[in-house]
Amino acid sequence: MMSIDDPRSSAPRRVAAIYDRIAPEYDRLESFSDRALGTRRLRAALGEAVRGDVLEVAIGSGRNLPFYGPAVTSVTGVDISRGMLAMTAAQAKELVRPVRLAVMNAERLGFADASFDTVATSLSLCTVPDPAAALREIARVCKPEGRVVLLEHVRSPVRPIAWLQRKMTPGQVRRLGCHFDRETIDLARSLDFGIVSERKRLFGIFRLVIATPPARQ
Ligand SMILES: C[S@@+](CC[C@H](N)C(=O)[O-])C[C@H]1O[C@@H](n2cnc3c(N)ncnc32)[C@H](O)[C@@H]1O
Repeated sequence: MMSIDDPRSSAPRRVAAIYDRIAPEYDRLESFSDRALGTRRLRAALGEAVRGDVLEVAIGSGRNLPFYGPAVTSVTGVDISRGMLAMTAAQAKELVRPVRLAVMNAERLGFADASFDTVATSLSLCTVPDPAAALREIARVCKPEGRVVLLEHVRSPVRPIAWLQRKMTPGQVRRLGCHFDRETIDLARSLDFGIVSERKRLFGIFRLVIATPPARQ
């Protein structure tokens, strides 16, 4: 039995099991939606925004890595799913830059405070069981003068679309552990992240946010 300290305990472990199962199919499914929904362009913009020593939380299969530019000095990627990390490891071999990977729960990152110049995450806080805990950890491990880059889907401000998202959410949670209509960017605001820029796409569902971490107490 897993101990309470195991990074894959309880709710995160259920999400890990989902992504371990779908990992071999993930890139095929996601490359369709990256093209159809325009998230490929947002991934490219995320790649331009990251710099210095970068931590990518819930890196999945590493779909943002090809977009990382020369301003990046090192890359660390963590995910709760070993299956997804194996996909990243496979594609990282084709990249010039080495990528350090670890199985880790975003809600309890195993890094010292202020370890990274940039902490990025994409399409992940919809699946992390406790997104507020993950955002607090992202803030903690980011240097105070560093930046946080979030690419997330959120509840649309367009009411019929938001209604549809709400209807779709229970099925998405069962299949992908994904809460389709979370208000993740509002959550980040409420936790005192400073929103420097926010790019919206597709009825405001997709957001690319560059933020500063909350000021240390
Ligand atoms: C929809 S996928 C997104 C993957 C990747 N970031 C991308 O943009 O394609 C969600 C990812 O979040 C990871 N994840 C979910 N909960 C997590 C947690 N508590 N800690 C770390 N990773 C988590 C899943 O294993 C999965 O790889």
